[in-house]
Amino acid sequence: MGSISVDQHPPVAPPPSTTKYTIASIPADGIGPEVISSGISALETLASTFSGFSFTFTHFDWSSDTYLETGKYIPDGGLDELRKHHAILFGAVGDLRVPDHISLWGLRLAICQPLQQYANVRPTRILKGVTSPLSSCQGSEAATKKLDWVIVRENSEGEYAGQGGRSHVGQPWEIATEVSVFTRHGVERLMRFAYETARSRPRKKLTFVTKSNAQRNGMVLWDEVQKIVARDYPDVETDKMLVDAMTCRMTLQPETVDTVVATNLHADILSDLAAALAGSIGIAPTSNLDPTRRNPSMFEPIHGSAWDIAGKGVANPVGTFWTCAEMVRWLGQPEAADLLMDAVENVLDQNIKTRDLGGTAGTDEVTDKVCEEIQRLGKERGVGAKGK
Ligand code: IPM
Ligand code: MG
Repeated sequence: MGSISVDQHPPVAPPPSTTKYTIASIPADGIGPEVISSGISALETLASTFSGFSFTFTHFDWSSDTYLETGKYIPDGGLDELRKHHAILFGAVGDLRVPDHISLWGLRLAICQPLQQYANVRPTRILKGVTSPLSSCQGSEAATKKLDWVIVRENSEGEYAGQGGRSHVGQPWEIATEVSVFTRHGVERLMRFAYETARSRPRKKLTFVTKSNAQRNGMVLWDEVQKIVARDYPDVETDKMLVDAMTCRMTLQPETVDTVVATNLHADILSDLAAALAGSIGIAPTSNLDPTRRNPSMFEPIHGSAWDIAGKGVANPVGTFWTCAEMVRWLGQPEAADLLMDAVENVLDQNIKTRDLGGTAGTDEVTDKVCEEIQRLGKERGVGAKGK
């Protein structure tokens, strides 16, 4: 058993050879359309500043409105349409008129799972100009400066496998099962991706999160596969944490954490904690990656549809800007990704920020300033002058 290895593919395939990137945009519900439109402005400004690459957007109007009109979030053949693009930019799904599990499984998971976007990547750090709630704790200011994490979440199975059912519906003895599924293949490919991520970062450190003390089947396989994969990464330092204890460590010793790998549900919860500790759920990005690149990957801000503020022009576009930076990096343009993040941080540092970050600016003002700053930094760094 110790030598079983099922995934022979290189864990991360190289980026596309073209620089003419085709992007499928799915703004969907609530504040999704507002923040995606900000993201597209930033991407277009970035492309014109660099001039060595371009974006062409195809807009898909898949949303809860579409579902209520047609009975489907994704029309027949929709996934094949997505497959024609290099990447997918997604807003948010969720609507009070549709039960959450229907909207989630109808759109977001209906894309992630068939397109085998098995690695969900959630970077967290405290951006310039943003205050972490941890900074008010005594002695933790230095620690928050070192809060720089990447959470790698299993994104294709586990607690979100969708298996289970209900019997005796409506009877007092009704039963419901929610079955977690862990496959050796699924765990191994994710674990390799997490080790590659940890290896690519300066600290080369992976915290492996589990709950195999209580969950004695799937989580024990999870532990066994980690041990096998770890042998191929002797240069990465690994430590193991139970998920409950991990919440304490993230809060009390943030500087000891770097790359984290956890199951679908565990990482879902840890990444909300991470976003809150970094200042706001409004700034956090997500990448849903198919590291083999056989399918396009999907990029989205972590926040949801936030109907309470939809249409008011106050949504924070920073989660989408960071998401766009992650997409640009994945497409093979790290210099542009860094410039976009520097522009966002400079604008936040000038105190131009939305209400969730304690500011007074609206979505458009933040977007305009970020676009101006992209152009300014572009000139300062001479990026367009290379004539690529
Ligand atoms: C996330 C979200 C989703 C999830 C919700 C909307 C179901 O919380 O992307 O983290 O749990 O995956
Ligand atoms: Mg979540």
